[in-house]
Amino acid sequence: MSRITLSHLKKMKARHEKIAMLTGYDATFSKLLSDAGLDVILVGDTLGMTIGGHSTTVPVTLQDMIYHTQNVCRAQPKSLIIVDMPYMSYANPDIAIENAARLMQAGGELIKLEGGVWLKSTIEKLTERGIPICAHLGLTPQSIHMIGGYKVQGRETQKAKELLETALSHQASGAQMLILECVPWQLSQEITQTLDIPVIGIGAGPHCDGQVLVTYDMLGMTPGKPFTFVKNFLLEQTQGISAAVKDYIRAVKTGTFPTLEHSFS
Ligand code: KIV
Repeated sequence: MSRITLSHLKKMKARHEKIAMLTGYDATFSKLLSDAGLDVILVGDTLGMTIGGHSTTVPVTLQDMIYHTQNVCRAQPKSLIIVDMPYMSYANPDIAIENAARLMQAGGELIKLEGGVWLKSTIEKLTERGIPICAHLGLTPQSIHMIGGYKVQGRETQKAKELLETALSHQASGAQMLILECVPWQLSQEITQTLDIPVIGIGAGPHCDGQVLVTYDMLGMTPGKPFTFVKNFLLEQTQGISAAVKDYIRAVKTGTFPTLEHSFS
């Protein structure tokens, strides 16, 4: 199998083939996820919580992201690699260019940024310089202290309208992909149908072009009550982690996960 590229994902959207994405932070998981046939590995800043034991993603540094990206890439996965820019590492376009370049040099193939219309010139400038961008809208965990908790976003008509407009604006600025986190399934369906670029959901219902979960969540490793949008794929799998990941990929691709049961309205 050849390496997955952004153009593969665009073709998958055009063919209505679902895109399966999971987080990966190290070489062992990188190889396992890739060998299982995963389309995209996200080196997410959730590593601050899953690996670092922090309660939010805010403490994650650029150096943390570089280290984990290098570890993931050393396993030479066939999956496309998306890397999160950590908290405040893209506070203005100049800082963003400098830091995104370091993440690309560490092995990132798309760079993910959380935020709304204030990102317009940053997305434009990174795109102009050949750095492909995945935007992240809805619940944006780096702003958790402003949002005031892990809440569904875009339930009110005005907020839903703003989210759709922002998604269109990010696409017009050059974003090549979009992640929608914790938004009502009806809104993510509308955004997915409106945008040309692939839209990947987490807590965003069954109608996105693809799905992402934190790998530790879908293996039931995260302590406490799981979020509504999480399913433990290891629970009924006796063949181990690799088989659970294959079950996840199969479920995303056949549309049996997520269902409305894992969604918000
Ligand atoms: O950092 C991360 O893992 C993420 C996903 C939850 C989408 O942004």
